[in-house]
Amino acid sequence: MRGYFGIGVEGISKAHNLGAVLRTAHAFGASFAFTIDAFHKARDVNITDTSRSDVHLPFYEWDKPADFILPKNCTLVGIELTDDATDLPSFRHPASCAYVLGPEQGSLSEDIQARCSHIVKIPTRFCINVSLAAALTLYDRTISMGGYPDRPVRPGGPELDAVDNWQPPGYRREARKAKA
Ligand SMILES: C[S@@+](CC[C@H](N)C(=O)[O-])C[C@H]1O[C@@H](n2cnc3c(N)ncnc32)[C@H](O)[C@@H]1O
Repeated sequence: MRGYFGIGVEGISKAHNLGAVLRTAHAFGASFAFTIDAFHKARDVNITDTSRSDVHLPFYEWDKPADFILPKNCTLVGIELTDDATDLPSFRHPASCAYVLGPEQGSLSEDIQARCSHIVKIPTRFCINVSLAAALTLYDRTISMGGYPDRPVRPGGPELDAVDNWQPPGYRREARKAKA
């Protein structure tokens, strides 16, 4: 997959939720993870993060939104259920970005929302658990950017040939250009 992503949570208070976010981030191939203004019992994080992502994934803890620093050219994407947010299934994920989610009780702060280039919502009737929201966001990134062939019209998976011979959009055009 081209690009990279990080993921983090603002104001998280439950260690098991943070553990689930970190484990999910690790499993989907995050390049880094972070918290902003978190208050949780740090030693309990590994109860849900059995993958021990702290050993494998750079993890940053910022005390407040003003301290929060991102890599150069890394787009911040807020995941929040707001009226004017973009629906996740229609959202084009930036190649290099960080996703930030809000606390168990409350929403992303105005400071953080103001720093986001995009606010994206998962089309649910009400808020879901923050770690599930993280997983759905990263799954959507994977299915839209992971280089999978289009789904067939009929139920079932694509023909194996289609999988073996699949080329990313624009590949033929680029190959022709390179030849010329
Ligand atoms: C449990 S929700 C926050 C509680 C919620 N504001 C409430 O009291 O109704 C925790 C976080 O999960 C994320 N989240 C949950 N459901 C979401 C959805 N449908 N779309 C986007 N983000 C969602 C957001 O980042 C949110 O701040």
